[in-house]
Amino acid sequence: MVQNQYHQPVMANEVVDLMRPVSPRLMVDATYGGGGHTRALLKAFPELEIVAIDQDPDAIAQGPAAATVRLVQANFASIDQIATEICGEVAADGSPTSCIDGFLFDIGVSSHQLDEPERGFSYRRRGPIDMRMDRDAELGADTIVNEWPVDDIADILWRYGEERLARRIARAIVAARPILDTAQLAETVADAVPAAVRRRKHPAKKVFQAIRIAVNNELGSLELGLEAAIRWTRPGGRVLVISYHSLEDRIVKRRFAAGTSGCECPPDFPVCNCGRVADLRLPVRKPIRPSEAEIAANPRARSALLRVVEKVGS
Ligand SMILES: C[S@@+](CC[C@H](N)C(=O)[O-])C[C@H]1O[C@@H](n2cnc3c(N)ncnc32)[C@H](O)[C@@H]1O
Repeated sequence: MVQNQYHQPVMANEVVDLMRPVSPRLMVDATYGGGGHTRALLKAFPELEIVAIDQDPDAIAQGPAAATVRLVQANFASIDQIATEICGEVAADGSPTSCIDGFLFDIGVSSHQLDEPERGFSYRRRGPIDMRMDRDAELGADTIVNEWPVDDIADILWRYGEERLARRIARAIVAARPILDTAQLAETVADAVPAAVRRRKHPAKKVFQAIRIAVNNELGSLELGLEAAIRWTRPGGRVLVISYHSLEDRIVKRRFAAGTSGCECPPDFPVCNCGRVADLRLPVRKPIRPSEAEIAANPRARSALLRVVEKVGS
């Protein structure tokens, strides 16, 4: 396997195999990153055109992976606008209807973002406390760490990091202000937790994850992006999502389950009156995980889960 310095794509073969029954001609790669999945898809489907989205200018600056790739620097929460334009171009009369054969979301951060100290994503490297994927965004991690009230910090550590010591760590962060860089933040967190916790794994891991999710509104964007992707997928097309932690996977699993079950009335209603019909089916019921060989070659793949749904209807 050729190693990509920017980012090694996760479960690229599995992604390609899940798209084979669709024979896609037009796809959206909602998280272009290093373009690894885009390249794998183009190799498997030579006729394919891809609209590739990323909110990080570093990803876009690498340039398109091929002439049939159109790059868009945007948050995938705005898929509605992007797809309206694409499907309007495809429709002969300019009136857009769902026209996309497949969407791929490979969410979270790229290796490039984690490995570049000045992006501030890593608790292992000294850098500014930033963590913005979109460098034009107003909220950076520094504001949260050095300005937010203790209750708000504790709240995000609890909600987005599932950190049991959220309040204790939040108090330590506020007491240590000003916190000047990621190394000082990681040390502050490590000093705030009991030694037994420190020995298990780096205590700053969940804290950095929580702050990053808040800075980039990751879960809110996922909900919006997923909803829009399902709307713009043509019948028979597929939406694929690779997630890396339970908070992300829960959103995907619930949305897919709602789309496959149809009626959402309470179980004691004698007849359905919500009028909702199933618009999705699960071609593969269980989430797909990377092979042991892939995890050995790319340890960052370890926590990945790949889910897929197919749009039904005519
Ligand atoms: C795990 S990487 C994707 C790697 C890519 N699949 C590859 O093979 O190289 C995630 C990428 O998605 C981007 N991203 C994450 N959330 C986003 C969002 N809401 N909108 C647009 N891009 C997003 C990040 O900037 C990052 O470059």
